[in-house]
Amino acid sequence: MEARIRMQKLRERIMTADEAAGFIQDGMTLGISGFTRAGDAKAVPMALAERCKRTGEAMHIQLWTGASVAEEVDRVLAEAGIVSRRLPYQSDRLLRDAINRGDIMYTDQHLSLTVEMIRSGELGRLDVAIIEAVAITENGGIIPSTSVGNSPTFAAMADKVIIELNTRQSPLLEGMHDIYLPGPRPHREPLPLKEVNERIGTSYIPVDPDKIVGIVLTDRADHFVNMVSGDEETEMIARHLLDFFETQVKSGQMPPELYPLQSGVGAVSNAVLSGLKNASFKNLTMYSEVLQDAVFELLDSGVLAFASGCAITVTPEHATEVMQRLHEYRDKIILRPQEISNHPELIRRLGIIAMNTALEADIYGNVNSTHVCGTHIMNGIGGSGDFARNSLLSVFVTKSTAKNGQVSSIVPMVSHVDHTEHDVDILVTEQGLADLRGLAPRERSRLVIEQCAHPDYKDALLDYVERAELRGGQTPHVIEEALSWHQRFRETGSMRITEPEYV
Ligand code: COA
Repeated sequence: MEARIRMQKLRERIMTADEAAGFIQDGMTLGISGFTRAGDAKAVPMALAERCKRTGEAMHIQLWTGASVAEEVDRVLAEAGIVSRRLPYQSDRLLRDAINRGDIMYTDQHLSLTVEMIRSGELGRLDVAIIEAVAITENGGIIPSTSVGNSPTFAAMADKVIIELNTRQSPLLEGMHDIYLPGPRPHREPLPLKEVNERIGTSYIPVDPDKIVGIVLTDRADHFVNMVSGDEETEMIARHLLDFFETQVKSGQMPPELYPLQSGVGAVSNAVLSGLKNASFKNLTMYSEVLQDAVFELLDSGVLAFASGCAITVTPEHATEVMQRLHEYRDKIILRPQEISNHPELIRRLGIIAMNTALEADIYGNVNSTHVCGTHIMNGIGGSGDFARNSLLSVFVTKSTAKNGQVSSIVPMVSHVDHTEHDVDILVTEQGLADLRGLAPRERSRLVIEQCAHPDYKDALLDYVERAELRGGQTPHVIEEALSWHQRFRETGSMRITEPEYV
C-alpha cells in the first residue's frame, strides 16, 4: 500500500465505500471522475445508491462527470431516483429515458466548457469530488487511472475530495497523464502546447491533501461494453474518406502524414478509423478525445505514431490485452484533461481533421448529432462541437439510412441543429462523399443528394429542392413541409413517401 499511497498521513484516511458515501447529503453537487466509461469512480456512487434504497432516504443530487460513465454511476444513481440534474454528457439507456421523460434535467454541453463554467462559478458550488486513482504521490497528488476528464478541476474546486484507489488499474498508467490547468481569464497566457506529443503539465492532479477526506480501496475493472462491429456500410464510408485523403495528398493539399486526427465516439467512428489500417499512410498522429480500439490497432500496425486523448475506452475483448501491453504504448500516448484535449485554441492551432458522427444531416449541410426526431436526446453533443467548430477540416459521417431503411439520414431540414452548415466541410455516407467547402447552399443541396442520399430517397429530396428553389431564397425551403419527413416517421414508422405530397 505504501507504493500506492505514498503520503503517510493519507494512509490513515482509508475507509469503506459506505463511510465515504456518508459525506454525501441531500442537495449536494458531486463531481465524479470518468470519461466514456473509463476511470469512473465506482464504489462510492454504488454505496450511495444502496444506502438511499435501503433507508428510503429522500435525496436529490446534481451529478457532474467528464462524459458518459458506466452503470456503476449513471445507471445505479438514476435507478435510485436521486439525480436531479446531470451534465455534461451521458449514454446510458435508463438515464436517457429519465431525461426524455423530464424526470432529470440534463445540461448537454461542449465538453471543453464545463470546467470553465465551474471555475467561474456559473454552475454553483461543487461539494464533493470522487476521483478514481492508481496512486497518490508523496505530496498527495492524484495519479488518475484510464481517464482524466474533468477531474483536475473537480479536485481543485470541490470542498471535499474522496479518492477511489483502484488496485485493478495498472500502475503503468502513472506517467501517461499530462495535467495542465489554464490560468484565470481574461489575462490567461496562451496554452503552451505546440505539438501533439508535447507535455506541458504534471503527471499528477495537484490537490490540497487536507481536502482528501477519505480513500476507498477498490478493485473493480472499468465496465467497458462491446461496440457494434463495422459492416459493409461503415467500410464503404471509410473507403470514401480514405480515397478523399489520398486525393488530397496527391494534389498537395495535405501532407503525406495528413493532419492530426480526431475521431468521435461510437461504432461508425471506430470503423472509419480502423479503415486507415488498409491505407498507405504512415506516421499519422491523433489529437482526439477518446482512444477506442482502432487507435491501438493503428499503433500496432505502425500507421499511427502518436495519440493524444483524454481517456482509453476499449471493448472488453481488447481491454485485457491493451492493459497488459501498456508498457508498449506508454511512449505513444498522452492522456490530458478534456478541456485541453478539446480546447478550441489548440484544435485551431494544430490543424485537426475532425471526424464525427451525425444522426442526420440536411441537404444544406446542417448536422443533428443528438436528438432523435428533434425531441428525444440520444447521448449529447460531447466534444463534436469543440472539434467541428475549430478544426482544419470538419468531417461528418453517417449511414444514409437508419431503422432498417425507414429513416433517411439525409433530410430536407434537420430536426435539431448541433453543427451548423458553417461547421461542416465534408459529409460522407456509404453512398459517397460530398465536399461542401466553398459552396453556396444551392450548390450544396444538389451535391449532398447526389453523393450522400440513399437511392430510395433521392427523388423525393430532389423534388423537394426543385420546389423549394421556385420559392427563392439563399437557402430555399418549402418551410411548411421541411419537417414533414420526421412527422411522417412518427406517424407511420417510415419516412418513405408513397404519394407525391405537392404537385
Ligand atoms: N434517426 C433516428 N435514429 C437514428 C438515426 C436517425 N437519423 N440515425 C441513427 N439512429 C439510431 C440508430 O438506429 C441507433 O439506435 P439503437 O441504439 O436503438 O440501435 C443509434 O441511433 C446509434 O446509431 P449508430 O448507427 O449505431 O451510430 P453510433 O454508435 O456511431 O452513434 C451517435 C452515433 C451520433 C449517436 C454518436 O456518435 C454520438 O452520440 N455522437 C455525438 C457525440 C460525439 O460526436 N462525440 C464525439 C466527439 S469527440
